[in-house]
Amino acid sequence: MNVYEIISTKRNNGRLSPDEIAFIISRFTADGIPDYQMAAFLMAVYFRGMDHDEISCLTRAMTESGDVIDLSDIPGVKVDKHSTGGVGDGVSLVLAPLAACAGLVVPMMSGRALGHTGGTLDKLESIPGFRTSLSTDEYRQLLRRIGVAMIGQTATVAPADKKMYALRDVTATVDSIPLIAASIMSKKLAEGCDALVLDVKCGSGAFMKTQAEARTLAATMVAIGNKCGKKVTAFITDMDQPLGRAVGNALEVKQAIEVLKGRGPADFIELTLALAARMLVVGGIAGNNDTARTILLQCIRSGSALMHFEKMVEAQGGDPRVVDTPDTVLAVAPKETVVLSVRTGYVRAIDTQAVGMAAIALGAGRRKQDDRIDYGAGIIVEKKRGERVVAGEPLARLFSAATTDVSEAMAKIAGAYTIGDERPDPLPLIHAELD
Ligand code: URA
Repeated sequence: MNVYEIISTKRNNGRLSPDEIAFIISRFTADGIPDYQMAAFLMAVYFRGMDHDEISCLTRAMTESGDVIDLSDIPGVKVDKHSTGGVGDGVSLVLAPLAACAGLVVPMMSGRALGHTGGTLDKLESIPGFRTSLSTDEYRQLLRRIGVAMIGQTATVAPADKKMYALRDVTATVDSIPLIAASIMSKKLAEGCDALVLDVKCGSGAFMKTQAEARTLAATMVAIGNKCGKKVTAFITDMDQPLGRAVGNALEVKQAIEVLKGRGPADFIELTLALAARMLVVGGIAGNNDTARTILLQCIRSGSALMHFEKMVEAQGGDPRVVDTPDTVLAVAPKETVVLSVRTGYVRAIDTQAVGMAAIALGAGRRKQDDRIDYGAGIIVEKKRGERVVAGEPLARLFSAATTDVSEAMAKIAGAYTIGDERPDPLPLIHAELD
């Protein structure tokens, strides 16, 4: 078996055997394949796809590239949520401590920013001191003690995914159903959860642009999970506009803290409650959705969800004062630039990928693997779909370092908005639910 032949088989639309898939993944994990060959393999998969058996083998090989954590000795049902990636999707920051507060154990293993989408790990690391890279022992201790841990792959969990993820991010091979399904499910099968709620994003700011693609991705992941004995539910949710109002790491943490304090944008709150309620139902904490929502709202109103967040931040080395004084603890980008509307009307559409790319241009994401993130950089979305805007009013506020050239981001935001005379019909936030 050799790597060249595996690449050319896939390039020629051939079907890879389980042994070939296991070989390329294990060799890449052991640094036995250079990035240029793996990038060629990923691009071949991107264009030629994989069938269900190949995707299952790829997921298994990626899971088995490292340890599979057994959390069965920790009391409680372990339920996680994972999003396929969006713009302004900081839901995990609220949902993980909230679901833990309601009685679940939430072993959340997240990723970094990928393509134009943000990453939970980068958002958490905007809190000074916050460590997302914990050993498996520390991870287990946190889950036992506070019921929640939000970490990246440890060096030993799905290391193949960690390396592939970084390479996909810079080789335009992210938005591929087999690669996304295997990436997400390999981490989830390794992290030790009993059940999983997936948020499959769909629309201009998602990797899946259409509902048909999103359904295929969701069904693929549900099938992989069920085959491996996990209860998996998938929601297909709207990403035709940024979720909430904040895009960018520290800005999204600030917004998450607001939501935990019972304030914040309605769409963000609604999606968080829907996903968390489902977690409570699959985890047996609530018998139905309504009871689950009542429990969750009570956790927010009483302040105990916020306390869980604070405990988690402190336990993971972050500055817990972020809860009371986010403005002084979190990075603030000093330069504010406002993008104004050139016409009066209704926001008919927002090219959400362009908003994500604008955030990267401001420094909130990476263009190359080793780029440093400016945690304070980002965007506050002033006008969302269906809202009325008057010529000269702000569409968005951009935050960046004083020396950052903001012209590219400004042009992207201005071009992202379609303003028309008629108010568009509202779009559902949740398109479908599959289990
Ligand atoms: N999230 C992941 O963990 N992997 C992907 O490929 C996309 C989103």
